[in-house]
Amino acid sequence: MAERVFSGIQPSGVIHIGNYIGAIKNWVSIIDSYDCIFCVVDYHAITVGYTPSELRERILETAKTLIASGIDPDKCTIFVQSRVPEHTELTWILNAVTPVSDLERMTQYKDKKLQNMDNINTGLLTYPILMASDILLYKTNAVPVGDDQAQHLEFTREMARRFNSRFGDTFLEPKTLLGEATRIKGLDGNTKMSKSLNNYIALMEEKEDIWKKLKVAVTDPARKRRTDPGNPYICNIFSLHRMFSSEEELGFVEKGCKTAEIGCIECKQILAKNINDTVSPLRDKMRELDRNTDYVMDVLEEGRKTCSRLAGATMEEVREKIGVIY
Ligand code: TYM
Repeated sequence: MAERVFSGIQPSGVIHIGNYIGAIKNWVSIIDSYDCIFCVVDYHAITVGYTPSELRERILETAKTLIASGIDPDKCTIFVQSRVPEHTELTWILNAVTPVSDLERMTQYKDKKLQNMDNINTGLLTYPILMASDILLYKTNAVPVGDDQAQHLEFTREMARRFNSRFGDTFLEPKTLLGEATRIKGLDGNTKMSKSLNNYIALMEEKEDIWKKLKVAVTDPARKRRTDPGNPYICNIFSLHRMFSSEEELGFVEKGCKTAEIGCIECKQILAKNINDTVSPLRDKMRELDRNTDYVMDVLEEGRKTCSRLAGATMEEVREKIGVIY
């Protein structure tokens, strides 16, 4: 039997090219080798401020984006987290075996706290327990994620060990599967590309908007004039070229930048074209899915059924082990 893979994505606004390169593209590449489950994690998304009517739309939009990006529902399971209540049930149980101090030292919690000073809710703190529940419920062998989630996966393995040692062997310790590009930087050039930092290019961005955003993106700060030679190895635009451009184009911009034969605008124009060439078939597929919402609803309903069955079986075992079945 193929090993099980589980991964998730939040429906919190746009999916950007960092999500695509760092996670989704990787999911597509392993879909034939594993028994894959991909989840739209809506309960994670409510830990920051949001509008219910928008969340409703984004859940469906996220599912459509996954399908448009090549996550073929005939080869894997796609579902929405809140439709399988076992996720939150297991979260409560794992809450009771998690030291608060383990949660307080999570990097993402510390970052999110700073970004949401007016709303530091308990969900931000216990977020990794819900994520561990997502993974452990399905006896997952491997989790493909970007580097920003690596600490949460270490935490998940620790949760599995802690639960197993107290109540007996129940959960597997999942491996982390990192793709080739584990951390795509944002257009500001120094932090990771992220929805909340507004430094992204959306996966479904139109051609003109890709260019508008790239035009003003940060490059090598030492290259002030067109005639100054640049250093591609510290320039985020060059890192993005590595993801979207051919070997030949990479060689061209690398040399052109170092010798000042090309300027940043020309370099960015090549990148803009290549990003657009990658995402335009996805945009077309997305438009097609927009006309076929019933199909997407059916996919999610099938996913819910499969996951309810699997999660239900694990929860029976967990309830028995912790002593609440009488
Ligand atoms: P989320 O929704 O922030 O991101 C989804 C996936 O995209 C990756 N990613 C990136 N990779 C490279 N460079 C970037 N700039 C970048 N930004 C995002 C993330 O690493 C992730 O793989 N907590 C998770 C969702 C989650 C989950 C799970 C994942 C909930 N339960 C269970 C795996 C298994 C999150 O917030 O991802």
